[in-house]
Amino acid sequence: MKTIETIGEIRSLLGKAPRSVGLVPTMGFLHKGHMTLVREAREQNKTVVVSLFVNPSQFEPHEDYDSYPRDYHSDLQKLKTAGVDLVFAPAVEELYPQGFDTSLDVGHIGTLLEGKYRPNHFNGVGVVVCKLLSIIRPEKTYFGQKDAQQCAVVQKLNSDLNLGTEIVIIPTVREKDGLAISSRNIYLSHKERKDATLLYKSLKLASEMWRQSIFDVIIIKKQMTSLVEKSSLINIEYISVSNPVTLKELNLLSRGALVSIAARVGKARLIDNITLGD
Ligand code: PAJ
Repeated sequence: MKTIETIGEIRSLLGKAPRSVGLVPTMGFLHKGHMTLVREAREQNKTVVVSLFVNPSQFEPHEDYDSYPRDYHSDLQKLKTAGVDLVFAPAVEELYPQGFDTSLDVGHIGTLLEGKYRPNHFNGVGVVVCKLLSIIRPEKTYFGQKDAQQCAVVQKLNSDLNLGTEIVIIPTVREKDGLAISSRNIYLSHKERKDATLLYKSLKLASEMWRQSIFDVIIIKKQMTSLVEKSSLINIEYISVSNPVTLKELNLLSRGALVSIAARVGKARLIDNITLGD
């Protein structure tokens, strides 16, 4: 495994690398969720590239960019064990040199759900994903369903701008009790961690109600809210039932609908989702 910090060097190595190339973009502090993407990429490609880059342009000014958890050495160890070929870990100045002044608007889809709370987030994700794809030019690029809106945004970006990769979506990896694994779970206290399982439980409740032919989204959201509000430690930001591609809100539950929840649990902001019928 080689660790590379410059665009020039990774381009030159990739010029000689066996195809296909699979890319797993990450912000590091790798956990079982990330490593599932890496494993899938390893199985499907001759060359696997993982990027480790905490992308400043996708954090809002009040967010946790400076304190975002980082553990470079442990990440490298995990990637080596997983049989990764190349790790791309550029400094901020390598991707955003002085004078960098281009911005990108991912459009309406970036303003919904998470976009209401993080208005610049998906534009920042869009910029870094475009840069990584144009530097690495992978045949396949791996994303987690855990960030369903990010998946919808990058799929649209890939098609709107003809970025020429195949986007592969990997199901959400969960702890035994159902909590979606996330780098931000380390912010939770013992009690918050326990109560955080209510998020997934509320999604399962929606799925159960759908199975029982209760389709009215107002009723479903009410039931989900009262379940989550059993914990005084959780503040719901939104519960949404939407079309998984356009993210347009639905009035009735239907197969394939995306049910998402975002909430503050202590210092952490957690998101989770399920697709009905999966
Ligand atoms: P990061 O949060 O590090 O996540 C990297 C990838 O891992 C994303 O595609 C995310 O959806 C996936 N992932 C995280 N937790 C997961 C879980 N429990 N199960 C399955 N997949 C999971 O998402 C980002 O970084 C950034 O926005 C990035 C795409 C790298 C652009 O900066």
